[in-house]
Amino acid sequence: MLTTRSIGLTMRALLLILLGLAIGAMGATAAISALRQGTPYHRGVMAVMQHHMGVLRDHVRQGQCEATSIQKHLSHLSDGARDIDEAFPSMDDGFYTAARRLDSALDAAQKAGPATCEALAAALKPVGDACQSCHQNFR
Ligand code: HEC
Repeated sequence: MLTTRSIGLTMRALLLILLGLAIGAMGATAAISALRQGTPYHRGVMAVMQHHMGVLRDHVRQGQCEATSIQKHLSHLSDGARDIDEAFPSMDDGFYTAARRLDSALDAAQKAGPATCEALAAALKPVGDACQSCHQNFR
């Protein structure tokens, strides 16, 4: 039987559900606009490369240099490097030359197939130099 009290409780539950939906919708809108305004693509490409570079440097630092993981992160770095042209349209020629230098350093690193921390550190050196040299000139 519906008493005034149970109607009141039902109304309260309904209100809470509606409130929940409204907050959920607000959250979704906030997330979408964060995505829109968020990181521009060119920064995203750099951030992704930074991540993989960081993981590889941590491998060296922690003395954990497992070949499979190294290849995975080198390969992601390489993908990132190949996105540089698309992410930075209409730059000077020198910029794209610097991007190719990073490509070659990463190709060489992948071909070397480092399986020790020493080999990884040696392979990362020209990669890091390629990042740095472009940053010095174009950042
Ligand atoms: C061909 C040029 C070039 C190369 C190579 C390059 N970068 Fe960059 N990078 C830039 C430029 C230009 C910016 C500045 C972008 C901006 O602030 O709009 C930048 C910015 C960054 C940033 C800051 C991103 C931010 O949110 O502002 C990071 C991190 C970064 N690069 C990491 C790397 C790493 C790691 C490598 C090498 C694996 C690398 N970059 C190689 C040109 C390059």
